[in-house]
Amino acid sequence: MLGSLPRFRQDPLGLLMAGFETCGDVVRFRLLNRSLFLVAHPRDARRVLQDHANQYDKGTRGFRVLRVFLRNGLLTSEGAHWLRQRRTVQPAFHRDRIAGFGDTMTSAAGDLVDEWLRSSSETVNVTADMMRLTLRIVGETLLSTDVSQEADRVGQALHIMLRGANEAISRVVPMPPWWPSRANRRQQAAMRTLDDVILQIIASRRTHSAVAAGTPAASSDDLLSMLMEARDEETGEGMSDAQLRDEVMTIFLAGHETTAIALGWTWHLLGAHPAVRHRVEQVLDQVLEGRPPTIADLPRLGYIEQVVKESMRLYPPAWVVSRRPMTDDVVGGFRIPAGSIVLTSPYVTHRHPDYWTDPARFDPDRFDAVHEVDRPPFAYFPFGGGPRQCIGNTFAMMELVLVVSTIAQRCRLDPTGPHDLGRSPAITLRAATPITMRVSRRAAALA
Ligand code: HEM
Repeated sequence: MLGSLPRFRQDPLGLLMAGFETCGDVVRFRLLNRSLFLVAHPRDARRVLQDHANQYDKGTRGFRVLRVFLRNGLLTSEGAHWLRQRRTVQPAFHRDRIAGFGDTMTSAAGDLVDEWLRSSSETVNVTADMMRLTLRIVGETLLSTDVSQEADRVGQALHIMLRGANEAISRVVPMPPWWPSRANRRQQAAMRTLDDVILQIIASRRTHSAVAAGTPAASSDDLLSMLMEARDEETGEGMSDAQLRDEVMTIFLAGHETTAIALGWTWHLLGAHPAVRHRVEQVLDQVLEGRPPTIADLPRLGYIEQVVKESMRLYPPAWVVSRRPMTDDVVGGFRIPAGSIVLTSPYVTHRHPDYWTDPARFDPDRFDAVHEVDRPPFAYFPFGGGPRQCIGNTFAMMELVLVVSTIAQRCRLDPTGPHDLGRSPAITLRAATPITMRVSRRAAALA
């Protein structure tokens, strides 16, 4: 009766990988009365996400859950509204405009290292600390506010929302958001808090810039100001307060957990591969000579970027990118009926043996200049692809490389937990157990 639903809820990665290994590039599963197709070949992922993207929408359960929180924001909106928003928001994420956030990223990471090295406890909860760090970075770059303190109501409300969304996606029987359960009431209260705070900040910025019109100092250089200044190319209109709220909430949620998860897995992998970690430290010592990294160093920190990319190959934070075909399609020679669920999966495709030799092995050299040219598009797609590709990918890569460099330059993290942490895929691919590690000051660090 249920088809593969129970297994899909219990161990989706195991099910998808087993399906791929047994059946190949296109696999059909039955979940209750619906068909779910896993599309594992890069050529087919490209068809769904890019070449035929306008034939697919986001009418899947994951997006329905997210839409309750993120409403009409970029991640969850569709059609003409999405396209207008994407064109309006895109310039704010251009490399030159976000370059100024580099210092915020390194100083937040530097503060975390100070805190670790001052603490009497050598063991740290890397999972929790990376969440706190990326929350601080997104808060400061988006709203110029640190929302990562324990007592901060924005930070707390975001955690409640995130937990709620993850739980809702993992439930076998979905609970409608209007059902007056305790969890739903808590989430609605969290959403009201976030709405109030975000709308208040927007209102105060609007008043401030009206009073001080013409004074450049009236606006801060954060993402919110860029969004408030952004204009639709065709109509010249700015965003309404409600739309700004949806975009701010989306960036908060899309922008911090994914990055925290990528960092957590990276520390775990470096801890388990001392030779790679040694090379990371050598590069950092040579390039930085003891001073904190800046974005000007990024071109010479290519090996750190390779490490981060390889970590997201093995553990892509967005482990599936789902779509619903609006009309029948043919993918990889198989008919996919309208209304079914199509999963492209970075997790599965990043292990496709035709494109990755010995796929389970952690090897950052896969991403050196020689090997990267061999790979077709969508053999590696941690940020999705096509028109809906992650708008924050440059921001995220800059943050990942700067944070890893700042921390690895000054301290070393060794595993204290199990070698195999297990995986807990919900919206994002978390480790099943918190990543705990022992921190020690690096003798070679000059800072
Ligand atoms: C390692 C970090 C990140 C990963 C792995 C990641 C992954 C993704 C993926 C796979 C998508 C495409 C979803 C789809 O096609 O359905 C996406 C979309 C999006 N991401 Fe990211 N992301 C990351 C960081 C960020 C950051 C830092 C921001 C903002 C500061 C951000 C904002 C967004 C937004 C707004 C969208 C929706 C874009 C649209 O549909 O137009 N992400 N992300």
